[in-house]
Amino acid sequence: MLTQTHERARGLADLPPVLNDSLIALIGMVAADPRPDKIDVGVGVFRDCAGNTPILKVMKEAEQRLLDTQKTKAYLGSSGDKRFAELLRPILLGPHASDDRIIGLQTPGGCGALRLGFELLATANPKARVFLGTPTWPNHPPIVRAVGLEAFEYAYYERGQAIIRFEDMIAALQSGEPGDIALLHGCCHNPTGADLSEDQWREVVRVVIERGLTPLIDIAYQGFGRGLDEDAFGVRTMLDACDEVIIAQSCDKNFSCYRDRVGSLWIKTGSADSTKTAMAHVHQIAREMWSMPPDHGAASVHIILEDEELRARWLVELAAMRDRINSVRQRIAAADPRIAYIGRQYGMFSMLPLSKEQVLNLRSEEAIYMADSGRFNVVGMGDGQLDRFIAAVVGALGD
Ligand SMILES: Cc1ncc(COP(=O)(O)O)c(C=O)c1O
Repeated sequence: MLTQTHERARGLADLPPVLNDSLIALIGMVAADPRPDKIDVGVGVFRDCAGNTPILKVMKEAEQRLLDTQKTKAYLGSSGDKRFAELLRPILLGPHASDDRIIGLQTPGGCGALRLGFELLATANPKARVFLGTPTWPNHPPIVRAVGLEAFEYAYYERGQAIIRFEDMIAALQSGEPGDIALLHGCCHNPTGADLSEDQWREVVRVVIERGLTPLIDIAYQGFGRGLDEDAFGVRTMLDACDEVIIAQSCDKNFSCYRDRVGSLWIKTGSADSTKTAMAHVHQIAREMWSMPPDHGAASVHIILEDEELRARWLVELAAMRDRINSVRQRIAAADPRIAYIGRQYGMFSMLPLSKEQVLNLRSEEAIYMADSGRFNVVGMGDGQLDRFIAAVVGALGD
């Protein structure tokens, strides 16, 4: 008789330990801290002035409509909700919305879009290298590794001066070979908040074309920086000039529906026919991974964008989130010249000029939780905790 015994060469019991995902570990630490005034600026969700992450009013209404009117939960197919992608198209692509060389499909969040996009790129060219500016969102390198592509890291940000190391970025991209991939943050750079200026985007586009690179733009925070159109400047400038562009998009932040996992992947190639072929691969890969994306969140976003009144109300709620991010930035920036740069950065994240030891002290002494790197979520706390946070940070910076 065949039995599973310890003699098997490799089994589940032989699995090596997994390195902790530091941001997920931080969530656990915050939850375990009993101090009532703890501040969690580690996790990447928007919090309003009361310190909550509410469901948008417009989303609540769309969900109610969905509940009242949905007649079936039959399968939709690997594209998910096609109308959702159509409605999103002009918001993301602007003047490129009518370009039939660009096709998009619904994905499980921005993360699903990134994985799917990289899987496609690895299928097309398993030898491609991925140019990654550091620091970056901690999930970027593992996704690149998971699809078997080689990551080539370059320094994107100079922490001391709080500036982009643009010359290093350009030099790194210039060393790329045709077919290599440039992973770029569309806006609201996570973790630094340091976005490329319009002139810098133009220069990056020039090098991408010169070297024959394929850009993959990760845009997870459209509307959180300067505005929906302004935040899409990089995406659209790349589309103006490049035949091959991949865009991984997320609605999880700008519709505040994080756990519902709403995103999309967009592919542009040099011809409508080759985009169709690329999309056939995308569908096949999606089938192998999740078969079909979850419906509820995208169906609710679809309802909001389809209805003129709901859409207008979403824009107001989105602007309120953006205004809060930018006004909290100004308050923090005004506290000390050493952190004034925070007022010139965008999105939910920036990095404080703190050592790991100072970050750990803030945790133990002040119950303030941020990533070891000093990355913090500017809207991670309500107004009631902001003064204490600012005082603690300025105190930690010393004289
Ligand atoms: C830069 C960046 N890309 C992608 C994502 C993924 O977003 P989602 O939650 O939609 O998967 C995030 C989420 O934090 C992010 O910060």
